[in-house]
Amino acid sequence: MELLRSRRPARAAGPVPALPALCAGLALLVVLVVAPAALQAQAAEAAGAPAAPAPAAPGHKPLREYRDPAPPVPTDPQAYRGDPGTPALAVVPRKQHLALYPCSQCHKVLPLNTTPRKLVAAPHAAALPHGQGRMWCLDCHVGTDRDWLHTLRDPKVDFDDAHLVCASCHSARHRDWSFGAHGKRVAGWQPGEREVYSCTHCHDPHNPTIAPRKPSKPPPLRAGLDPMPTVPHAVPRPWQRAQGGHPASQGPSHVQAQQP
Ligand code: HEC
Ligand code: HEC
Ligand code: HEC
Ligand code: HEC
Repeated sequence: MELLRSRRPARAAGPVPALPALCAGLALLVVLVVAPAALQAQAAEAAGAPAAPAPAAPGHKPLREYRDPAPPVPTDPQAYRGDPGTPALAVVPRKQHLALYPCSQCHKVLPLNTTPRKLVAAPHAAALPHGQGRMWCLDCHVGTDRDWLHTLRDPKVDFDDAHLVCASCHSARHRDWSFGAHGKRVAGWQPGEREVYSCTHCHDPHNPTIAPRKPSKPPPLRAGLDPMPTVPHAVPRPWQRAQGGHPASQGPSHVQAQQP
């Protein structure tokens, strides 16, 4: 405020006389302050003494003093439970559709064999086309407790939550699914009534490619009615008529042909 008030009379006097005065003042400053300082510094350098460091601006911190914040204390890896911000959804359960569930009815007496091999004596499909040879059953199924699935992080995932298993490798597709851009909903979109099919409703986890299908025939239209009479094309075509004239060999237009 003090500064503003003291400046006001100078402005009232007009900017034109103030400008030369300012220039003269600056020149004087250079001559009186900057030049002797430079001379002094030169002299000091010549004498071998280090130049006095420039006074740091208040609050200034040299770049090299900035350190990364302390690393976070390591915790147990968190199991994936869905993408942040996912609208609430319920997944249609799968277990009642599994003919061989609970698996423990046979596997509690079968020894665990972790070697990837062609299954011969099993009631299961022998081939595993998913991943083209880069996977084995126990990458998804728990070997020691066959009634459960697992992911890299989750030691046990229920068969009704199989989408979490898929998410561990197909995270982008799972995100699309959880926000509604992939898969299929059964009920409404609103939170509370959002119910969606799990991945395994549509994809066989052991052979997930959805086989191409032939499109079905179109439904019959105008059922029970006589077929439309076929009408010959208009010759000459409207644009030929607009250009004026047409080859005589093309015959009359259908408008003429329709007339009795
Ligand atoms: C009717 C009996 C039976 C049921 C029920 C059954 N399995 Fe099996 N399973 C077998 C037999 C037998 C083998 C060994 C086949 C071989 O070695 O050729 C086998 C092998 C396997 C293997 C190969 C790895 C290993 O340990 O040998 C996996 C994985 C597997 N079963 C998963 C399951 C899952 C998951 C379920 C439940 C959804 C299930 N099974 C239910 C009989 C069964
Ligand atoms: C990519 C992960 C994955 C791999 C690899 C995998 N499975 Fe599965 N499996 C699943 C999932 C998920 C289900 C549940 C399917 C459903 O909901 O329909 C399942 C279901 C089953 C079932 C029950 C099927 C039924 O209809 O009762 C059997 C048996 C089974 N798997 C055996 C195997 C065997 C044997 C292998 C190795 C040859 C294997 N799985 C490899 C994920 C996998
Ligand atoms: C351990 C990692 C892993 C898991 C778990 C997994 N997948 Fe896959 N999936 C793969 C790999 C690897 C491929 C092959 C990609 C390729 O060949 O380019 C693949 C391919 C696919 C494909 C594409 C097949 C095609 O037509 O090319 C589908 C669909 C698929 N997976 C669905 C699923 C579903 C559904 C589940 C959960 C039951 C699942 N995946 C779990 C690794 C995984
Ligand atoms: C309502 C049925 C349905 C559901 C549910 C569904 N998918 Fe799909 N998915 C499809 C169809 C149809 C395609 C396209 C056909 C294809 O490419 O094989 C597809 C394609 C894919 C592909 C790409 C295949 C490719 O060739 O690029 C992947 C990976 C996949 N789905 C993974 C998943 C996963 C993971 C889930 C669960 C989180 C899921 N899907 C749920 C029907 C479904």
